[in-house]
Amino acid sequence: MKLAFIGTGYVGLVSGVMMSHLGHHVICIDVDKSKINLLKEQKSPIFEPNLESYLLNCSNQGRIEFSHGYDNKLSEVDCVFITVGTPSMEDGGADLSYIYEAADKVAQHIRPECVVVIKSTVPPGTCQSVQNLLIKNGFKNSVVSNPEFLREGSAISDFLNPDRIVVGTSDQHSALIMEQIYLPLINQGIKLVFTDLITSELIKYASNSFLAAKIAFINEMADLCEIVGADVEVLSEAVGLDKRIGASFLKAGPGFGGSCFPKDILALQKLTMASKGQFLLLDALITANQTRADKMVQKIKAALSNNLKNKTIAILGLTYKAGTDDLRSSPSIPIIEGLKKEGANIIAYDPKALKNVSKYFGSLDCRNSSIDAISDADALVIITEWPEFKDLDLATAKKVMKGNVIVDLRNILNPERVISNGFEYHSIGRRKLTS
Ligand code: UGA
Repeated sequence: MKLAFIGTGYVGLVSGVMMSHLGHHVICIDVDKSKINLLKEQKSPIFEPNLESYLLNCSNQGRIEFSHGYDNKLSEVDCVFITVGTPSMEDGGADLSYIYEAADKVAQHIRPECVVVIKSTVPPGTCQSVQNLLIKNGFKNSVVSNPEFLREGSAISDFLNPDRIVVGTSDQHSALIMEQIYLPLINQGIKLVFTDLITSELIKYASNSFLAAKIAFINEMADLCEIVGADVEVLSEAVGLDKRIGASFLKAGPGFGGSCFPKDILALQKLTMASKGQFLLLDALITANQTRADKMVQKIKAALSNNLKNKTIAILGLTYKAGTDDLRSSPSIPIIEGLKKEGANIIAYDPKALKNVSKYFGSLDCRNSSIDAISDADALVIITEWPEFKDLDLATAKKVMKGNVIVDLRNILNPERVISNGFEYHSIGRRKLTS
């Protein structure tokens, strides 16, 4: 089939490349010329493991092309996926202007029977209003909702092995086209859930909010573990072994970030308020995550005898999780801001994010390796769970650091190893070990 993707951000680029890998002919369109130029050279504008090799393969087989304008090629496609961003507005609601802009431009080029799919995360009711807009332009089908569940860092395997594919449509023709598009995955036994537009749109918010709630829950449980002297790692494993709960998304840490969870829970809260409903659990989860960074700052301050003035703190890891170069809504941003406000000097290192730092931190003293960053530091704080930090050479670290404090906000270090190398170890809810 011939498919088009409007927007080569995270969702659009990964889905476009992988649809091409499944055998479809794909055209990816983006208004950003520099991104399209990179892609034409088979280079990915984002870091995602293995994406570039799939891109190269599909390009070599002539099944993917890139364009920076809405051109006539759109009139040849069977289905257009709208995958533009829906960022938060100041009041927390989702900004849908890119969706409407894309739909408007798409309407000027597609055939009346082309299927239009919204893959971006959009509040319930959006697909219907896009459909109303398209109908005015002679469009004959219903718009389809097909939310995406890819995670950054594991997007390729998430695409190839999804837990389910969700399709919202009331139109038989569109349903058939969607089935054909996903046939290679359906043939592997992946379940396709058909539903109406509103339910499909809400499924995405429900999934992200529920996962965010699991994280917020285990984070607060970790705080309680610290108070009563329990161990959150064992607790999390044992709780997760209950099949009704499940082991994933129970890793305590500095709070969830990224371009999805924080934005989506706010949009769901806004939607609930606009419909005069109440979602108390969601309100609590938002507050829990928003106050997390300050708790982390207080934890680091307590580890340094309650005084951060003129202390040098080495931050290892800036991205919101490992496996990505993305700094959007990373907990590192408010944590570093809070530490600076307390008078600390910050020196940072991240294996992937350094090129994006100025956009999110203004001026931040960054080094090119962990050892460079921790030299002469009073404390070392791990914010992102990059595997290389797990294997940090602690004997060398002890020699080059001025102080002996390690605050591990991801619980990735081995506490015995840390202590036996002469450090004080502070974690998120692990049982305290002393030397
Ligand atoms: C999330 C969802 O997991 C995807 O299914 C969804 O498609 C995507 O949002 C989206 O809406 O586009 P992503 O933001 O890439 O994916 O990252 P996650 O792996 O879900 O992690 C989100 C945050 O939660 C990170 O800051 C991570 O460190 C944190 N987290 C995750 C924890 O603190 N503990 C955990 O146990 C799991």
